[in-house]
Amino acid sequence: MSFRTTRSVAYVEDVSPGTGALPPRAWYAASDAKSLSLNGNWRLRVSATVDAEDDSFAAQGYDAGDWAEVTVPGHWVLQGDGAFGSPIYTNHLYPFPVDPPHVPTENPTGDHLRVFDLPDDWPALDDGSAVLRFDGVESCARIWLNGTELGEFKGSRLPHEFAVGRLLKPSGNVLAVRVHQWSAGSYLEDQDQWWLPGIFRDVTLLHRPAGAAGDFFVHASYDHGTGEGTLRVDSDVDGRVSVPALDIDVATGESVTVPVEPWSAEQPRLYDGELVTAGERVPLRIGFRTVVLEDGLIKVNGKAVLFKGVNRHEWHPEKGRALDLETMREDVLLMKRHNLNAVRTSHYPPHPAFLDLCDEYGLWVIDECDLETHGFTEQAWRDNPVDDDRWTPALLDRAARMVERDKNHPSIVFWSLGNEAGTGRGLTAMAEWIHGRDHERLVHYEGDIDCRDTDVYSRMYAFHAEVEKIGQGLDGGTHKRRELPFIQCEYGHAMGNGPGGLADYQRLFEAHDRLQGGFIWEWIDHGITHAELGYAYGGDFGEELHDGNFVCDGLIFPDRRPSPGLVEYKKVIEPVRIEGDGADGTVRVTNKYDFADLSALAFEWAYQLDGETVETGALSVPALAPGESAEVKLPAPPADAAGGAEAQWTVRALLAADTVWAPKDHVVAWGQVPVSARQSPSVTASERPTAGERTITLGPASFDARTGALKAIGGVEVTAPRLDVWRAPTDNDAGAEWQTDTRYGMLWRKYGLHRMRHRLDAVELGDDALTVRTRVAPAAWEVGLATVYRWTSDGTRLRLTVSVTPEGDWKVPLPRLGVRFGLGRADAVTWFGGGPGEAYPDTRLASMVGRWRSTVDELQTPYVRPQENGARADVRWLELGGLRIEGDPEFWFSARRWTSEQLDAARHLTDLTPGDTVWVNLDHGQHGIGSQSCGPGPLPQYFLRAEPAEFSFVFSTAE
Ligand code: GAL
Repeated sequence: MSFRTTRSVAYVEDVSPGTGALPPRAWYAASDAKSLSLNGNWRLRVSATVDAEDDSFAAQGYDAGDWAEVTVPGHWVLQGDGAFGSPIYTNHLYPFPVDPPHVPTENPTGDHLRVFDLPDDWPALDDGSAVLRFDGVESCARIWLNGTELGEFKGSRLPHEFAVGRLLKPSGNVLAVRVHQWSAGSYLEDQDQWWLPGIFRDVTLLHRPAGAAGDFFVHASYDHGTGEGTLRVDSDVDGRVSVPALDIDVATGESVTVPVEPWSAEQPRLYDGELVTAGERVPLRIGFRTVVLEDGLIKVNGKAVLFKGVNRHEWHPEKGRALDLETMREDVLLMKRHNLNAVRTSHYPPHPAFLDLCDEYGLWVIDECDLETHGFTEQAWRDNPVDDDRWTPALLDRAARMVERDKNHPSIVFWSLGNEAGTGRGLTAMAEWIHGRDHERLVHYEGDIDCRDTDVYSRMYAFHAEVEKIGQGLDGGTHKRRELPFIQCEYGHAMGNGPGGLADYQRLFEAHDRLQGGFIWEWIDHGITHAELGYAYGGDFGEELHDGNFVCDGLIFPDRRPSPGLVEYKKVIEPVRIEGDGADGTVRVTNKYDFADLSALAFEWAYQLDGETVETGALSVPALAPGESAEVKLPAPPADAAGGAEAQWTVRALLAADTVWAPKDHVVAWGQVPVSARQSPSVTASERPTAGERTITLGPASFDARTGALKAIGGVEVTAPRLDVWRAPTDNDAGAEWQTDTRYGMLWRKYGLHRMRHRLDAVELGDDALTVRTRVAPAAWEVGLATVYRWTSDGTRLRLTVSVTPEGDWKVPLPRLGVRFGLGRADAVTWFGGGPGEAYPDTRLASMVGRWRSTVDELQTPYVRPQENGARADVRWLELGGLRIEGDPEFWFSARRWTSEQLDAARHLTDLTPGDTVWVNLDHGQHGIGSQSCGPGPLPQYFLRAEPAEFSFVFSTAE
């Protein structure tokens, strides 16, 4: 008998969803019925093929004493230090030949065993029945209990339940689960992430008493006209529904309408209730809200909402997609604290507890089905399972398992059919089924460009100009699409440094009603903790096919520390705008919430002179309704005793009281209002450079007489400043190969900007200046930068003026333009300028002007793949390594213990070893960051063009 026809393994390549599982139903964490978690230590044996071992391990009495032990939930490739195989990362390429529904003979198969006893208080075995629930197994599992086969299933991130009552024993129950890494289901699970086999979500035994609840559907709508909510709980098993706070006690299936407070992401009012059937009491958490498509807009409770969202994959650097509750809560808290109001569960239904948290803390949710067939794009979508009727039952099964499991969450406003699966009849069937089953939510699918099946026009990575056109309704498209609102289900690719251009998108979203916001790609870097590499990414496990660090493209680092991208996004989407020009002593405050007034916030002003706060106070701001603005009078400014300082107001909106997601005084929004301008530093050129045999001296400085290179200022030795235009390309500089706009990060290398040579043309001693003339240019090209360094001094201070004149036909913008110099000893940094975090021309909204302190090491942003990072914007002056440096005009600075070239060469942070020199870049300009690792490059206004430029720095020794 050939392998393909072996009955016992045919299910692996069968397109059907499986056999033996119970119909899907609503998920709930706990009721008064007993349950037993089967999480914990399991025995594991991994074999290389599906049939290397027979199924005798499932029999009672099998001795698995010599098997390994692993933790369930978990992925076996992330346990045992590589003994059970390794993770594989591909973006969209299938890591096996595309021959649906077949999978390779090499198909890692994990046999899992767990022996368990029923607890003493478990009901008698003839009292009701029991169900075994698997919340997530990748990718295909076959189950036995006490030697009896229960069935097999696919659909990795979906629950499957099996009736087991008749098979249970008081003790010594043997649960055997055979898990195959590859199956027909893998063709439907080609999401851009690590391939990680295993039982990665909970396994639970649930007692089902006689008269237990079956499936139930909580319908809780809100009428914004009357302020009333209507509740009806449809239940397979009749019972009663009570909500004490609303005096509700009705039969299932019966509607009741009472005045309620509605649920929204901003004000997530939940009412505790209970569904009571003859045999079970199930707690309910009810949120009243109504989601409709009306006037071409997505409205909740009568109001159009603006999604300030993110795409969230489930990720933990050690546990992969096996997340514990605290990690999920951390994600939700971080989102709330950074002003996010929405999450798309890319690209599969998350652990159900995450949705409970979204209900509780308040986040709008697009719940996405576990479906992606992206790899078929390589064959022009030929044989795509979503357009092949044989697969439709599997697609419908997935849709039903998502909707039935999650339908009682008020936070979910959209069902998403899946991601990047092309188009086809199977998707239409899913949409029809979902629309029929749930009239109270909308359907999303980005791949449906004509919106035949969907209720929203959704795109990913559309450029700003196109988004604007869509906002203006000038994008054309099918008649149906023209009537629909628009969201970007993915934009702002947060890979490495960036994304840039978020503020520009937000301006568009706020300017056009049809644009209802978007979801940043993505939440977290999927780096895997690795002993030698710090965090591993694609290729680090020797995969034959992989997509490198494209898997590290999140707003938070693998350890969940916020990256500058998240800090920027928080500022871009802040729900209160605070602005003004300071001239008239007022600030304009605008409430940008969709539902909440400003009564939960307190406002505070700080008056700053040269970045130091001299006085603070409370600002009384009216409890503006959503959309309202007010001019708020600031107090009379405190006097500037010394005179001449740069003065500004900083106004903050803080939480007025503790909330469930952040404590009192948490900063929600802020704005700065300049009062008086900065005075540029001036140095009288009173000193004359004098030449010795080896050295030229000018004021406090000494220079090499032959080269004119600065050697020391006062007692501080330096490696001379030279023009620098190179930065270690960011992922967004390099861009993705499929991007259609020019990828300057690649051209920079082509044109040799990483290997510029400095030709010395002249060292000239004048009456009041030392002038060094150079030409900075790459081998092989005619382009160059004529660069003149002019040094002057008043005896104590040293001024450097750099003049740059491009020569030749420059075809690329410059990565940066400034000088780089080296300091022997430097650690603590103080500066007056933008901070506290990094900023670039199109990622600088969150950069706050003030007095900041740091250390050289803390200035580094730990992008998983090393790249340009850590620049601070708008710097007036900087103190570091015994020097004080003032800029004319303001400048960007970065300081690191390695060169840009070393940064560029590193693949992991562990490749970077501190040298003896701290390299300091003082930049007149930086090129924008953009989002071209998947999306548009920087907008033209953020280009650093090769143009004539002049800029100065004043050096002195710091006190
Ligand atoms: C999208 C896709 C995501 C991710 C992203 C790039 O096309 O939906 O899953 O691959 O691009 O990081």
